Amino acid sequence: MRILSGIQPSGTLHLGNYFGMMRAAIELQEKGEAFYFIADYHSMTSLTDAAARRANSLGVALDFLACGLDPKRAVFFRQSDVPEVTELTWLLSTVTPMGLLERCHSYKDKIAKGISPNHGLFAYPVLMAADILIYDSNLVPVGQDQKQHVEVTRDIAIKFNETYGQTFVIPEPQIQSAVAKVPGTDGEKMSKSYDNTLEIFGEEKALRKKVMSIKMDSRTPQEPKPDADQNLAIQLLKLVAPAPVAQDFEDRLRAGGLGYGDLKKALFEHYWSHFAAARARRAELTANLDFVQQVLREGAARARACAALTLKRARANCGID
Ligand code: ADP
Ligand code: TRP
Repeated sequence: MRILSGIQPSGTLHLGNYFGMMRAAIELQEKGEAFYFIADYHSMTSLTDAAARRANSLGVALDFLACGLDPKRAVFFRQSDVPEVTELTWLLSTVTPMGLLERCHSYKDKIAKGISPNHGLFAYPVLMAADILIYDSNLVPVGQDQKQHVEVTRDIAIKFNETYGQTFVIPEPQIQSAVAKVPGTDGEKMSKSYDNTLEIFGEEKALRKKVMSIKMDSRTPQEPKPDADQNLAIQLLKLVAPAPVAQDFEDRLRAGGLGYGDLKKALFEHYWSHFAAARARRAELTANLDFVQQVLREGAARARACAALTLKRARANCGID
């Protein structure tokens, strides 16, 4: 089984990225042949600062390796080190109906937020389809917000296969339903673009401050809270603390008597210790960047060999050989 996923270097990675996508991806590397990449071409649709892209790409590589991506098991590479994917994007775009792209929520949401769209943003799902199809991927672990893009990929693959004969494997999305949508500090979906993130790796004081600023209501500590399971800090605590600990806090909040300040302090302590081992690994990797660069170079060579075969097959099937 081939497993594939990507993450954009458009900012600093946060708990939404980790629990929504990275954790499942890291677990899946034991179950098949995993291909994970840094989607730097995709980041160009929203980020135009070259130095930031370079720094973020290295940051994503460090974060992913520190969190447990094992380069002996998984092929880890930068999207742009396999330029074949852009040629496949063109082949795919010629069988992609406009309506399919016009219906994409992610595109519509970004427009609604006032972003003036470039063609790359509109065609984003076609590049993503090429990412997935060029490695003959079977399974794509992603957060809920990317599910539609994997469905678009399936539609494009089916259309291409119908038009030019059997060429592509049809992939399946894999969504972690329990954490499909990790909430941010304001209760909305945690996202780099909403300024409501808790980073996986960050400076202790700043992260503590962010946790203490999580939005709560104005009920007194004594009041029982029948909706304790909806509490933002409880929802986050369930991700970073052992289940019985989180349950105990939820029960105490429901019964009344637990103050929000104490709850948020506990959340910070568990959040900080949850990533302690990964933090130590990240520091080691940061002191050994040659190793990180070598991992990406070797990953790119393996990915490229695989992509070249699929592209050759696709070209031949459409009469370009
Ligand atoms: P962002 O919204 O911060 O820009 P990305 O779009 O780069 O994040 O997402 C990278 C991966 O992390 C995707 O698979 C996405 O579904 C997942 N992800 C991002 N935010 C969340 C969240 N709040 N909850 C669950 N998964 C998330
Ligand atoms: N669009 C994805 C995101 O923003 C990143 C991505 C690019 C991706 N290509 C992919 C994810 C292929 C899975 C498979 O999160």
